[in-house]
Amino acid sequence: MKSKHEKVLSCVAAFLLIASAASTGVLAAQADFDQLREKYYADHPGKGKFGDLWEPIAIQKYWNPIDFYTPPDTIQGKFTRRQCVDCHLGMTPGWVHAWRDSAHGNLDGIRNLDPEDSRFYKKAELERIEAHLASRGVLQAGEQLDEVGCIDCHGGVGMDALEHHTELRMPDRAACGVCHLQQFAEAESEKEQTWPQGQWPQGHPSHAVDWKANVHTAVWAAMPQREVAQGCDMCHYQQNKCDGCHTRHSFSAAEARMPEACATCHNGVDHNEWENYMLSKHGVIYATTGKMNWDFEVPLKDAMTKGGYTAPTCVWCHAEFEGEFTHNLVRKVRWGFNPTPAIADNLRHPWFEERKDSWVRTCSNCHSARFARDWLDTADKGTIQGLEVEQEAKKIVQALYDEGLMVGQKDNRPAPPAPEADAPGAFFALFWAKDNNPSLVDRIHADMWEHDLIKHYKGLFHMNPGGFTYTEGWSELLKRYTEIQNENTRIREMDALRKEVEMLKSQR
Ligand code: HEC
Ligand code: HEC
Ligand code: HEC
Ligand code: HEC
Ligand code: HEC
Ligand code: HEC
Ligand code: HEC
Ligand code: HEC
Repeated sequence: MKSKHEKVLSCVAAFLLIASAASTGVLAAQADFDQLREKYYADHPGKGKFGDLWEPIAIQKYWNPIDFYTPPDTIQGKFTRRQCVDCHLGMTPGWVHAWRDSAHGNLDGIRNLDPEDSRFYKKAELERIEAHLASRGVLQAGEQLDEVGCIDCHGGVGMDALEHHTELRMPDRAACGVCHLQQFAEAESEKEQTWPQGQWPQGHPSHAVDWKANVHTAVWAAMPQREVAQGCDMCHYQQNKCDGCHTRHSFSAAEARMPEACATCHNGVDHNEWENYMLSKHGVIYATTGKMNWDFEVPLKDAMTKGGYTAPTCVWCHAEFEGEFTHNLVRKVRWGFNPTPAIADNLRHPWFEERKDSWVRTCSNCHSARFARDWLDTADKGTIQGLEVEQEAKKIVQALYDEGLMVGQKDNRPAPPAPEADAPGAFFALFWAKDNNPSLVDRIHADMWEHDLIKHYKGLFHMNPGGFTYTEGWSELLKRYTEIQNENTRIREMDALRKEVEMLKSQR
């Protein structure tokens, strides 16, 4: 499963290890990265447990380069660092310009920053990276890094030339981690999250396992419509690569600090954080004041003191943990994607209580602790109230199914494609349909738990009253509840009528 570039990298790494084995500090830095990279690939599911059911389509080599990438054969030859830029200036000028204007293409720009500049902190970052690369033998001690060129990401750090049709690669997380060890390690640490009562498998939900979550969804693997299914990967690729928040080829930290950076993925019917946030007080302050006046070049830790933030952004709230900001965004997660009784019934467990206390401290950067706790208590209870409506509807749907009363259940309900198993109101109802599977009540219930309840809870926790009362959330939950009650009564009346007719017929 490991691709060619991996082998190239490990050869380079082995060479560097020998070349730099003179000092023990060198070996420690080497070991940290190598261990992390090894674990990164060991944890990676590849095509996953349902891998024999599907084949990647061409575009997926970009969503998951680790498993599927192969270089194009339209261009052949061995090219140097300089030639990459020269030829691509004609071939793909947009990328070259973006790169030239970025930190990677302009490291002297960082060296020459004025101490008053909000980007001045990058100077120390650059020096740290140089020291790290020296410890790996890529640079001589004290030597400066000239640039982070095309070849450093698309071939290997420090390479002088590469064979375009064989050695070219798309950079995964580890390829960035060679230089950005700290961010790589922080991002990977999301895999350590362990739920106290097994509500989610270890590490879930998080960016660090989002590809795994994707390929381990049975209906995703079973869907014959691969061009539609690959749309899931367009959000679920951060386990594979780092350009979700830092778009290529600008790779900007300022961009990633803005709420828009999350919007491409955190929107829509089952994760509408973007809509909820933008229409909340916090989002409106960002839109009316923040976008124009706040300084997004300032690191998150100085957002209020130097950046001028007067309201929180997505990543300010979610990257913060006890006053520190890292690439692990899940250290305060409690409800985790969708509310279930397994979470609602355990909120008093210390694991959940400590995370809630931590949220209160986050909010207390601006609000009083009491205001924050009162709101979070309200949001918890409001979420549970929504969950109760959904759970009652679920019982009705389950009973119809258990009694064989779903419309068409006895003679027109084919099984979903394997490895999916038939079940009432299941996730597959949103992505597969044939004859009377799913029936209308299945679909309504699937919408209820996977869409409305999630929007309801996200609206509450992002302080958007329109979101959780009327437009989405509560009002929608009740609408579907009404529909399910209505169907239930209608189906049962029909069933009684049918039985009565049969009885009358048999008496004739
Ligand atoms: C003589 C021109 C030329 C040179 C030199 C060159 N490239 Fe390319 N490169 C191309 C062309 C043309 C394509 C588009 C191939 C296609 O679309 O089939 C391409 C494609 C790429 C791609 C995208 C591949 C993909 O799968 O979509 C990357 C990345 C790339 N080049 C990087 C590099 C790097 C790194 C170097 C230097 C080692 C380099 N190129 C040197 C012409 C060149
Ligand atoms: C900091 C790392 C980095 C550098 C430097 C870099 N790239 Fe990329 N490049 C990426 C990433 C990440 C992707 C997306 C990978 C994926 O989708 O699997 C990418 C994708 C590409 C692609 C194919 C996808 C597309 O949208 O066309 C081309 C072509 C490309 N880069 C060209 C270049 C050229 C030319 C340079 C130098 C001017 C360059 N890159 C420098 C990280 C880098
Ligand atoms: C050869 C080393 C190297 C590689 C490989 C590399 N970077 Fe960088 N990167 C740097 C250096 C040096 C800086 C400038 C110092 C800083 O801001 O951290 C930088 C800066 C950045 C910044 C901040 C830029 C800004 O203007 O705000 C981001 C974000 C970033 N890199 C992401 C990435 C990603 C993502 C990848 C992989 C696709 C990557 N880097 C690959 C060395 C590298
Ligand atoms: C490229 C798409 C993408 C971008 C951009 C993105 N995310 Fe995510 N995010 C995801 C996916 C997919 C998941 C679900 C992970 C899984 O499947 O386990 C997720 C999960 C999360 C989680 C954990 C959710 C939980 O239920 O525990 C948080 C928190 C989060 N993202 C915050 C952010 C923030 C803040 C930003 C912007 C700075 C952001 N994300 C940008 C795709 C994205
Ligand atoms: C969910 C969005 C998100 C993803 C995904 C993400 N980053 Fe970041 N990254 C950020 C934010 C936000 C900052 C600014 C942090 C701060 O100011 O404390 C940042 C900062 C950085 C910096 C510091 C640059 C500087 O000059 O300040 C580097 C380097 C970096 N990220 C690399 C990576 C790498 C490598 C990956 C993949 C392992 C990655 N990022 C994935 C959001 C993201
Ligand atoms: C004021 C702080 C704050 C801001 C700003 C914020 N969130 Fe949240 N977010 C929360 C809280 C609190 C929760 C619920 C946490 C819990 O589970 O108890 C939450 C929940 C989430 C979740 C589900 C995971 C979970 O913890 O339940 C995701 C994903 C998410 N937010 C993404 C975003 C995105 C994307 C944005 C911006 C568009 C954003 N958030 C803005 C505070 C914030
Ligand atoms: C628009 C971006 C986007 C698309 C498209 C998308 N997802 Fe997600 N997915 C997310 C986000 C964001 C989360 C986490 C949200 C949260 O916690 O609030 C998530 C959560 C999940 C989870 C639960 C987390 C876990 O670790 O198990 C699974 C499973 C999942 N998605 C699978 C899929 C499948 C399968 C598809 C396609 C049918 C898909 N997703 C399409 C963004 C997306
Ligand atoms: C960076 C400062 C800041 C942080 C941190 C912050 N908020 Fe706010 N919040 C504000 C501002 C400013 C308003 C608008 C106040 C107004 O309406 O006059 C606001 C409004 C609200 C509102 C709407 C009610 C109202 O008074 O307008 C709620 C509820 C709320 N915040 C809850 C929270 C919670 C819960 C957290 C933590 C998860 C949090 N906030 C974090 C600045 C912040």
